[in-house]
Amino acid sequence: MTGRTVPVREEIRALEAYRLVPEDAPPLRAKLDFNESPFDVPEEIRAEVLSRLAAKRWGRYPEFGAPCVKRAIADAIGRRPEEIVVGNGSGEVILAAVSVFAGGGELVLATPTFSLYGQIAAIAAARVTDVPRTGSDFALAEDAFLAASGQPGAVPLVCSPNNPTGGVVEREFLERLLDDACVVLLDQAYVDFAEAGDDALPLVGPRGNLVVFRTLSKAYAAAGFRIGYAVAEPELVLEIEKAILPFSVDLAAEELAIAVLSHPEISREHVRRIVAERERVAAALRTAGATVAPSRSNFLFVRPPGADAARVRRGLLDRGILVRDMTAAAPGRLRVSIGSRAENDLFLEAFLEVI
Ligand SMILES: Cc1ncc(COP(=O)(O)O)c(C=O)c1O
Repeated sequence: MTGRTVPVREEIRALEAYRLVPEDAPPLRAKLDFNESPFDVPEEIRAEVLSRLAAKRWGRYPEFGAPCVKRAIADAIGRRPEEIVVGNGSGEVILAAVSVFAGGGELVLATPTFSLYGQIAAIAAARVTDVPRTGSDFALAEDAFLAASGQPGAVPLVCSPNNPTGGVVEREFLERLLDDACVVLLDQAYVDFAEAGDDALPLVGPRGNLVVFRTLSKAYAAAGFRIGYAVAEPELVLEIEKAILPFSVDLAAEELAIAVLSHPEISREHVRRIVAERERVAAALRTAGATVAPSRSNFLFVRPPGADAARVRRGLLDRGILVRDMTAAAPGRLRVSIGSRAENDLFLEAFLEVI
């Protein structure tokens, strides 16, 4: 450094840089820390994507405005293309929406919730109002959340199913929130693992002020390609798109999105198996004396007996099983992604040894 003071915005300087610290550990046997799909995109779809990609001109930008992907998403969810915003993962779309609606203002969060929201708020220079979740199931504190969200200039961002706690908000609460807040941002990254009635898309349209975020990273096993989207009234879509740089979805992600969305039966079958495994693993953990919050996602929020989450995580890692220690957000808790049946068995076996 030259001794010159480089101006860094205070909220960015205060952020802790996201860092994955390499740890001393045996080779991983089960990676259950990122809520990724234990399945991959099947061979025939990979082949289809690769051959379509090979036929493209790689030296050209993708088609402006990603009309083919928007149409594929709209067809898959029964909406109109003009209601869709696409981005480089849903994280990018959430950042855009927070910047547009809450930038320089106030973002209301029900904590613990997805840790990236804190970073997004800092980038968008939004102040965060935390409304802590309550009770053993970490349910959203509805009245307090409604009161905070009804303040002038406040914008609520709700995650349902919530990462890391796994639960959902009820439709009735969402309707009250839509009445009280000027705009509601609703992250449904994990909704494919929930029940049909948890899908909030029917509220987009009748209510002009709802923005729902979705991703292909979880149920569609496409996390490596980075594609997510929002569904909202076309008027809001136009505003959100102003905050997304052109061509943020590349040719490869476009082709993969179109291919996986045209085979919904594959992700449906993956989801069915993950949900069945979720219930099996939750029951086994409860039998072992752990507290497990009810989950409608592809992960479990677990309090091991003794509640020493850091020790249990380390013990699991020593046996090649990687899970998340959520102590910073919720003391004593781990977040465990649902893996393949074999990975889940390895996890359960190691868990019983460690506790
Ligand atoms: C709640 C939630 N929202 C959004 C995302 C971001 O997903 P992506 O950017 O891969 O679409 C994640 C990723 O883990 C998540 O847990």
